Amino acid sequence: MLYLTNNSYQLVPFFLPLYPIFQRLETVYITRREHFNAAHKLWREEWSDEKNEEVFGKCSNKNWHGHNFELFVTVKGEPNPETGFVINLKDLSVIIKELVIEQLDHKNLNLDVPFLKGMLASTENLAIEIWKIIDAPIREAGGQLCKIKLVETENNYVEYFGGKEPF
Ligand code: NI
Repeated sequence: MLYLTNNSYQLVPFFLPLYPIFQRLETVYITRREHFNAAHKLWREEWSDEKNEEVFGKCSNKNWHGHNFELFVTVKGEPNPETGFVINLKDLSVIIKELVIEQLDHKNLNLDVPFLKGMLASTENLAIEIWKIIDAPIREAGGQLCKIKLVETENNYVEYFGGKEPF
């Protein structure tokens, strides 16, 4: 027993450089959900009708189709000692609504949305573009954007972590 105790003491200096990591226990992840619906089609002009249908399936329908999208924006940070908030959810909601939802809701993603011009209107690409739009405004509001989750159907959703590994 004494032998083991001595050994564990010897390990302490080795772990000391990791101590700052354990100080960040107050980090909280907070998520705001917003909703929009939009039409799109997945289609490459240079491909034949058959190949478009083979690759994109129902999403290649020539006369468009729509989805009810659910957008989840996750922000991390430490609660402000005065407010208890990581970020004011009202501020977060305004950022998402004004910069993203306004541009997408009831729109045709292929035709009506400037930031998707020339791009395949896939849920993946949409999540990346949404990140680019709201990352800086969220930082200015005191939070750190860490995840975009975009739900296309009840069976399909994508998650984007700003190009970083999530964990
Ligand atoms: Ni679709």
